[in-house]
Amino acid sequence: MEKINVRLWRKEDFDKKYQEECENGIEKWGIKADNQDFKNIVIKWLSDNNLLNKKIIDFACGKAHYATWFCKLGCKYHGLDISPTAVQIAKDNLKNYSSAVIFELNIVDDVNVINEKYDAAFDAYGFYLLQKDDRRKYLKNAYACLRNGAPMLFIGLDFLENGDSSEAYKTEIETAGFNVEKIDEYIYESFDRIFYVRKPLNAD
Ligand SMILES: C[S@@+](CC[C@H](N)C(=O)[O-])C[C@H]1O[C@@H](n2cnc3c(N)ncnc32)[C@H](O)[C@@H]1O
Repeated sequence: MEKINVRLWRKEDFDKKYQEECENGIEKWGIKADNQDFKNIVIKWLSDNNLLNKKIIDFACGKAHYATWFCKLGCKYHGLDISPTAVQIAKDNLKNYSSAVIFELNIVDDVNVINEKYDAAFDAYGFYLLQKDDRRKYLKNAYACLRNGAPMLFIGLDFLENGDSSEAYKTEIETAGFNVEKIDEYIYESFDRIFYVRKPLNAD
């Protein structure tokens, strides 16, 4: 069977996938919000970084599966995704959470329209599926959106499977100006990695 290269997908392809998921009544992408192990990892990250009640941006949020974790801890949650269908589903699901705002935005090309600074950023399965040049642009955007000293969490599928080593990703993230503090392995459906990253306190 021919392997699908998600890295070549455009906005229309992502949106089609969400429309098909909707029609078939299935939820496919990402670690689901009922995954207790993953939830514990995220809550610990929030707590270790004193992020309760702070402003968090979730890049490539999809249907914003994890938004309620942040909102229930008092965080102001902003989710961004390129797919209008995913954004609409997320908005509908979160209509009772006034601290959650979802935008349709391209994290590679459009993020410079955001003129807010966030206390932390979260990326579950967004970064790893971009192509190298787009990853570089996205990292620059993410860095610019964050206040100095702000942490960021990247979760991605087995990076080696995509032809890149996690060392190469680490270099890319560091080249964008972030400090990579820790890389953890995480086994969900496949072998994933979690990068704990921070914008330096003394960033310009
Ligand atoms: C694997 S899904 C992960 C969704 C969500 N973070 C989760 O874990 O459930 C990848 C997401 O990236 C979004 N995406 C891909 N390219 C994007 C871009 N350039 N800007 C914003 N979102 C993008 C897709 O629409 C999709 O929702």
